[in-house]
Amino acid sequence: MIDRIVRSSPTRRVIELAVGLSRRGATLSADPTFDYIEIDVPHVIAHKRRLLERSAAGRVVLARPNLQLVAGDVLVDALPARTPAVVVAEGLAMYLAGDARRALFARVRALGDVELVFDLTPASDEPPPGAIGRALERAMKRFTGGQAFERDARTRDDVVAELGAAGFADARAIAARDVARDWQLPFADRATPVVIFVARATRS
Ligand SMILES: C[S@@+](CC[C@H](N)C(=O)[O-])C[C@H]1O[C@@H](n2cnc3c(N)ncnc32)[C@H](O)[C@@H]1O
Repeated sequence: MIDRIVRSSPTRRVIELAVGLSRRGATLSADPTFDYIEIDVPHVIAHKRRLLERSAAGRVVLARPNLQLVAGDVLVDALPARTPAVVVAEGLAMYLAGDARRALFARVRALGDVELVFDLTPASDEPPPGAIGRALERAMKRFTGGQAFERDARTRDDVVAELGAAGFADARAIAARDVARDWQLPFADRATPVVIFVARATRS
C-alpha cells in the first residue's frame, strides 16, 4: 500500500523514517529519477550498511548517488529539509505514545511541501486480542520493560484529526480490507486490519 502511494506521488524524492532493513529504498533508487533518503538510529544504519557491503549487489546499491543512508533519531535530530518529498514511516507509529506521534507529525509538517504516509491500525480496527495475542503482549511487555503496542490511537478519525491539528490537509485513512482487490494487494482474500494514513502539507 505504501509502495503504491509513493509511486503515485508526483515527487520522486522520498524521505523514509525508521527505515530499518526495508528494501524499498534499494528497489526504488534503481530508478535514477528517485532521490531516496533513509533514516534510522545509528546502530541500525551501521548494520544495514554492513549487510549491503557483504554482496556485490549490495555494494552497487550503496554506491548510488541517489540513495542516502542517514543515522539519526527522527524524534530528536533535524530531518532533512529537502522538499517536495514523500515522507514514509512504516512500522513506527504503533510504537509511539500519543505525544511522540503528534510531535512527529509536527516535525514532518514543518518540513514544508510533503506528503506523509504511514501505517497505524487504530484500536477500533483491531480485532479483540485472543489468547495468543494476550500472551504476545505479555511477552512484549516483559522484554521491553513494560512497553506494549500503543493503543491510544482509538479511531481513524482521531488520527486524521491529529494530522489536521498538525497542519496537514487532505488527511485520510485507507484500510487494506477496502482496497485489497482494487490495489491488487497480496493475499487479498485474507482479513487484515492494516490501515495506512496519507496526508499532504504545503509550504506555509
Ligand atoms: C518495526 S521496525 C520497522 C522497520 C521498517 N520501516 C519496516 O517496516 O520494515 C522499527 C524501526 O524503527 C526504528 N526507530 C524507532 N524509533 C526511532 C527513532 N526515534 N528514530 C529513528 N528510527 C527509529 C527502529 O530502529 C527500527 O528500525
